[in-house]
Order: sequence, then C-alpha cells, then structure tokens
Amino acid sequence: MQAYAKLNLALEVIGRREDGYHRIVSVMQLISLADTLVFRPHDSIDVETSDPTLAGPENLVFKAASLLHGAIQASLGSLIVLEKQIPASAGLGGGSSDAAATLVGLDALWGTGLRCRELSSLAEALGSDVPFFLYGGTALVEGRGERVTRLRDPEPVWYALLKPPRGARTRAVFAELKPEEWSDGESTRTVARALCERGRASVGINSLQEPLFRLYPEARECFEALTEVAPGRTFVTGSGPTVAAMFDTRTAAEEALAAIGRKDYWSSVCRSIGSNECQSPCA
Ligand code: C5P
Repeated sequence: MQAYAKLNLALEVIGRREDGYHRIVSVMQLISLADTLVFRPHDSIDVETSDPTLAGPENLVFKAASLLHGAIQASLGSLIVLEKQIPASAGLGGGSSDAAATLVGLDALWGTGLRCRELSSLAEALGSDVPFFLYGGTALVEGRGERVTRLRDPEPVWYALLKPPRGARTRAVFAELKPEEWSDGESTRTVARALCERGRASVGINSLQEPLFRLYPEARECFEALTEVAPGRTFVTGSGPTVAAMFDTRTAAEEALAAIGRKDYWSSVCRSIGSNECQSPCA
C-alpha cells in the first residue's frame, strides 16, 4: 500500500484551545511522494523498516497497529514492512500518512470492516494530521486537524520540493508562534473556494512560516533559494522545513531544482494525487 505525503497549500492558525493545541484552517493536498507498507499475517505486531531510526514502539505505525488491535480486541497480528521515502520531521506528514495506511491496511487484513467514522476517531488519537489521510485528494482541514471536508479535485499540478538537512520539531514551531501571528482563516477559505470554482489557486499563507524561520534560519535560506527560481509560487508546508513550488509541468519543476543546484538540500519532484487515485475509506 502507498502512503502518500501531503502539502499544506495554505495554513492559518486562528487560536489556541484549552488543551494547548492550536485551532487551524488549512487546505491540504495529497502528493505522489510516498512510503510503501506491506501487511503480512503474523502471530504478533512487528514493524520492519528501511530506516533504523524509526524502529521501536514510538513509531506511529506501531502505535496505529496497537490502537486498532486494542479497539477491536483482535487475536491476530501482522508483520508490517515499511519502506520510507518521505523524510521525517519535514512538514510532509510522512508519519501521519503511515499511521493512516496502517489503520486501513490492517482493517483489511484482519477483516474488521470499520467505517470512516470509527477509523477517524482512532486516527485523531494518533495525531492531528492523521484524519486527513483517510480522505486524501484535496481537503479543507479545521479544528485541531480532525475536521476534514473533501474539496473537488483541482487541476493536476507538479511540485518541486526542497528541504534543508535538519528536520523541524512541530511542537517547537507551534510554541514559537505568537498570538499576533494568528489570523481569521479567511485567506485559506479563499484558496479553498478558488480551487473548487476555478480548479486552481495562487499560493496561500502559512502562519507557521515566520516562527519556523526564527527557529530554523536555514529554512528561510531554502525558501529564498526556491523563491528566486519560482517567485510567487513558493510556500512552506506545515511546520516545515520543506518548501514547495507549484508548476504546470514536471520539466519546469525539475529545471527549477537544477537551477538551484544545492547538493546539501534534499529535493524531489512530485505531482498532486486526485481522489480517484487513492484508496480512502472516507471518500
Ligand atoms: O497532533 P500531533 O502529535 O501531530 O502534534 C504535534 C505537536 O504539534 C503537538 O504536541 C502540539 O504542540 C502541536 N500542534 C498544535 N496544534 C495543532 C497540531 C499540532 O499545537 N493543531
């Protein structure tokens, strides 16, 4: 099973909840960069991964499998083989997507037959970004991340992705955000409306961009490098530090990355994934 990454085409923080989480409004887009998961019958829950730093009980794949196992009181197990392509701590939702894929994959393997609503409440317990991955395609995401509204598929686009070596800590970036940097979510809703009505929209704002740049100056440098070759279409995804730029063709995205030529950055070219291309229990 493919576990696709996401981009936040726009992200506004509109306030803070009593439990310390922030209230957000975001447009999320599934992209073709993906991890791969295979689920095999097994007598216990085990995770094998290509990245040894992700082994252990803290991995969201293991947490998702244990949560589902407990919820349905399964006597079955699974050996889950995880091939990573999506960089961790990058703002691309890799761990969250792996967790959602685990819920869907094990639901199928164990013949549980859970519905969208039940899977969503498990997803929400695993992390704020996890519910979106049960929907896929393009969506307006609100609340802490658990309120997901599917949007009509926009026109397909290509993205150039660029990331400095050090990952960013989501919790630290949210903690650095000041109340003066909150907004009302209208700018993001405008992006969502444009995508629905015209099939395309210009790049939205991201409330986490400045806090990210204050904590991780190399993310600003990365943003400026991509902006130079793709002005007006470059944005930070999630809590970063990955930056992305939108293009009409794969060639244009590849040429932009080649023009930057920074060997110390991770980079990738990917395309948007439409709702018909992903297996989503909440479609
Ligand atoms: O939900 P998740 O565990 O992925 O979030 C990681 C951290 O990001 C949280 O501990 C919280 O500090 C911050 N966060 C937030 N508001 C959100 C999502 C995440 O403050 N809506």
